[in-house]
Amino acid sequence: MAVYQATTSAPVNIACIKYWGKRDTTLILPTNSSLSVTLSQDHLRSTTTSRADPAFTETKLWLNGKEEDIKSGGRLERCLKELKKMRKERIEDKEPNAPKLSEWNIHVASYNNFPTAAGLASSASGFAALTSSIAALYGLNTFPSSSSAKPSIASPSELSLVARLGSGSACRSLFGGFVAWEAGSLPSGTDSLAVEVAPQSHWPTMHALICVVNDAKKGTSSTSGMQRTVDTSALLQHRIKHVVPQRMEAIIKAIKEKDFDSFAKITMADSNQFHAVALDTAPPIFYMNDVSRSIISIIEELNRVSLEKTGHLLAAYTFDAGPNAVIYTEEKNVKQIIEIIVRYFPQAESNPFPDPFKLFGGKQSAAVP
Ligand code: ADP
Ligand code: DP6
Ligand code: CO
Repeated sequence: MAVYQATTSAPVNIACIKYWGKRDTTLILPTNSSLSVTLSQDHLRSTTTSRADPAFTETKLWLNGKEEDIKSGGRLERCLKELKKMRKERIEDKEPNAPKLSEWNIHVASYNNFPTAAGLASSASGFAALTSSIAALYGLNTFPSSSSAKPSIASPSELSLVARLGSGSACRSLFGGFVAWEAGSLPSGTDSLAVEVAPQSHWPTMHALICVVNDAKKGTSSTSGMQRTVDTSALLQHRIKHVVPQRMEAIIKAIKEKDFDSFAKITMADSNQFHAVALDTAPPIFYMNDVSRSIISIIEELNRVSLEKTGHLLAAYTFDAGPNAVIYTEEKNVKQIIEIIVRYFPQAESNPFPDPFKLFGGKQSAAVP
């Protein structure tokens, strides 16, 4: 008897223009477009195995070895429903001999090799890996056997629509490199998808340094935090209408032109506005802590000196919904930045050079002088 099983993995992505706010909480349609960089190394990944079997009496999910409750009508069910529909319409209805996997229950097991729900984008890699694993199980992202020149049965952008139903930020992890999530305007959400802005190979000297300030589960999940912001923040309305559209255009231009100074300025400004919007929420949400703010001061000071000396910026910080910093910098500056961070935070252990994307740190509680 054949075994129907597939394992795939997906990396996290870290937004430079932040998604924070939904206009439709069921379909996960955002209030603004966003843009991110998908990490290319193996430090922050979800690996997911899916298996379909007619003998399974129910669909189950294990996360990091622990069985999770599957909520009826919840995020997993919505992703699965779309993937089953694609399997049925695109494969089973056309090939009478194809096994009816869409009618069977599945078991899904996923592992994150980094802290879950700590503001390091586990929902992004998690739902991207889940979508691509089930898509692989269902034969959706393979070439039709008749011609290898034809595109896969479901394109990455189409699969990004499915991953979005699991977690908004997940749609961007279906692509490598620099990725935009276009907010779209249709109530159906069919135009709210991820597109590639540039592959990683376009700007291979761009590095992301991940500073793990605290790996504990955050107090306010992204989902509930952003909903509270939508309900209470006036600043968010200004951001959506008057800030993000211009920033999206400007950062895409900066990426295309490999203009690090503009990329860095926009990235830092958007991180700061996102945290300002969190503070403008009632009751306010604090994701950054003293160590996060110290990292901002260090990078701002380094940039001030660098601008004076060379006319260019050295690095850009950005913080998601948690205290952990991601520092974007170009390859030539990686060594210097790591040395400085390790000097201020002696616990931060650096990894061997030259990885494009490095993970260093651990629990971090030191105060910065
Ligand atoms: P984060 O900042 O880590 O993205 P979120 O609050 O956005 O935190 O989401 C965390 C939630 O995402 C987890 O509680 C879990 O429900 C889901 N999640 C995380 N990793 C996975 C995974 N590998 N597979 C499926 N779901 C996952
Ligand atoms: C701060 O995608 O985790 O990381 O769609 O409710 O699952 P849900 O939220 P999520 O939010 C991510 C918020 C962010 C910014 C970003 O990644 O763009
Ligand atoms: Co998340």
